[in-house]
Amino acid sequence: MIVAVDGPAASGKGTLARALARHYRLAYLDTGSLYRAVGQAVLASGGDPADEKAALAAAEALDAAKIDEKAIRTAEAGHAASVVAAMPAVRTAILGLQRRFAAQKPGAVLDGRDVGTVVCPDANVKLFVFASPEIRAHRRWLELNSSGSALSEAQVLEDVKERDRRDAERAISPMKPSPDAHLLDTSDLSIEAAFDAAVAIIDKAMG
Ligand code: DC
Repeated sequence: MIVAVDGPAASGKGTLARALARHYRLAYLDTGSLYRAVGQAVLASGGDPADEKAALAAAEALDAAKIDEKAIRTAEAGHAASVVAAMPAVRTAILGLQRRFAAQKPGAVLDGRDVGTVVCPDANVKLFVFASPEIRAHRRWLELNSSGSALSEAQVLEDVKERDRRDAERAISPMKPSPDAHLLDTSDLSIEAAFDAAVAIIDKAMG
């Protein structure tokens, strides 16, 4: 059983996907963490994430088991991630890793931008989770704030909008709902309500 959970930054898809994996006893992969780890690795070695050679080398050297969860959650790593994620070679380099993860038994929940469209087009259930940019920026700002970031909410909103633009407009694997995805607007939903709505969709789809 494969559940694909796609959507824009800070839509709540990560929290939701993790809870779904626990509920259905499936493995969980945050595919965005892979792009963040690649971007962060380039930054950590003093390189420029826009340098395709450096980004590809980092993608090829990526070891999903060794990702530093704290280092990849900064705003800088998020920005670097969206830059390297626009590179076809980087996406291809980490596609196999994602597909192997999805193929494990009894199944997996993967969240990202292109899980339902590219990584797992045959997923049993596809969700596309979204919320307004203002609500997503507010959520991300609360999250960054609690980890000591001094960014203002307006700056975070700008960043959210810029990343939406880059994610949706890139030529390869742009962020868009798969035609067979179930759309879930979490703007006015609590985490619990979004979870209940997703479980209802999945249970219905799985019969
Ligand atoms: O979901 P996130 O903020 O951790 O994602 C970080 C960046 O990686 C974001 O700009 C989009 C990109 N990404 C992607 O292109 N494809 C995915 N499957 C997951 C993330």
